[in-house]
Amino acid sequence: MLGIETSCDETGVALVRAHDDRSELLVDAVASSMDEHARFGGIIPEIASRAHLEAMVPTIERALSEAGVALSDVDAVAVTAGPGLVGPLTLGASAAKALALGLGVPLYGVNHVIGHAAVDELVDGLFPDRVMALVVSGGHSSLLLVDDVVTGVTELGSTLDDAAGEAFDKVGRLLGLPYPGGPHIDRLARAGDPTAIRFPRGLTAPKDQAAHAYDFSFSGLKTAVARWVEARQDAGQPLPLEDVAASFAEAVADVLTAKTIAACRRHDVSTLVVGGGFSANSQLREMAAKRCAEAGIDLRIPPIRYCTDNGAMIAALGAAVVRRGLPASSLDLAVDSSMPL
Ligand code: KG4
Ligand code: ZN
Repeated sequence: MLGIETSCDETGVALVRAHDDRSELLVDAVASSMDEHARFGGIIPEIASRAHLEAMVPTIERALSEAGVALSDVDAVAVTAGPGLVGPLTLGASAAKALALGLGVPLYGVNHVIGHAAVDELVDGLFPDRVMALVVSGGHSSLLLVDDVVTGVTELGSTLDDAAGEAFDKVGRLLGLPYPGGPHIDRLARAGDPTAIRFPRGLTAPKDQAAHAYDFSFSGLKTAVARWVEARQDAGQPLPLEDVAASFAEAVADVLTAKTIAACRRHDVSTLVVGGGFSANSQLREMAAKRCAEAGIDLRIPPIRYCTDNGAMIAALGAAVVRRGLPASSLDLAVDSSMPL
């Protein structure tokens, strides 16, 4: 299975061999255009599309040569059909269709968000009957109940406003850090006191439990950080950057882990998968490990290179579709920038 991912700024191409009882990763090649976006403080879709166009064939060639696999040995192609940026998605889908048509092999269009969970099957083995998946990145914060990674994914909750990584990037901007701010805040936070400032925990009040038990909201938290910073500056006091970063990161990790573990308990799930680029966050990792251990939950977080966008997640999900004997997509496959689960 050759997997292609182009939903944002990474051109990912991977090869996975699907066995009956496991999926084996042969190679995972990624090219990123992030350096070209950094000076704009955000992803510019046209620049990303152009970069995918330039990187696609070299990245496919690199993946095949590193794996020692001939193009003619590819049996199937999987591609991200959405959600994501429509131009970049279209580039990937066009490449995948061309390969499938030229090679005479089936094409599988798959969902990017579910791919962030499915990639863990390459690392920790096929999922048990029921797992919870927390997918957190710059674009998504979703809590998924996974009874079957292809046919049984239920979204229990998602962010009502900013994704976790997006909130970090926005707070990074207001603290004057380079884009993307997430890793910079993480670095500062490790030197700060997470209990220094008590920032709000969105959607955790009793009144929110009925409608939003498993939803997230980070825009109020972002505003609270902005107000706190402004008040400090107005008073002419120095900004304790490390403490602000640590207290902010603590609030995000607290809400994400508390809601996720409550959902595991409620649905009697004993395996949690965390994926998406934000799962690189130190405080989230530490808090998830601690709270899962206390709750008797088996925590699966793949290495960071599989948490950021890549082709392996798409090939892994494509392999799962094939393993279930489900039909391929048509060559008319349409990309969907806001594709539902
Ligand atoms: O999955 P990803 O590579 O791309 C998207 O699909 O969004 O995630 C990137 C996001 C960015 O918002 C970035 O700031 C954030 O994840 N991020 C982090 C860390 N590493 C990446 N946020 C906090 N702490 C980190 N260590
Ligand atoms: Zn992603």
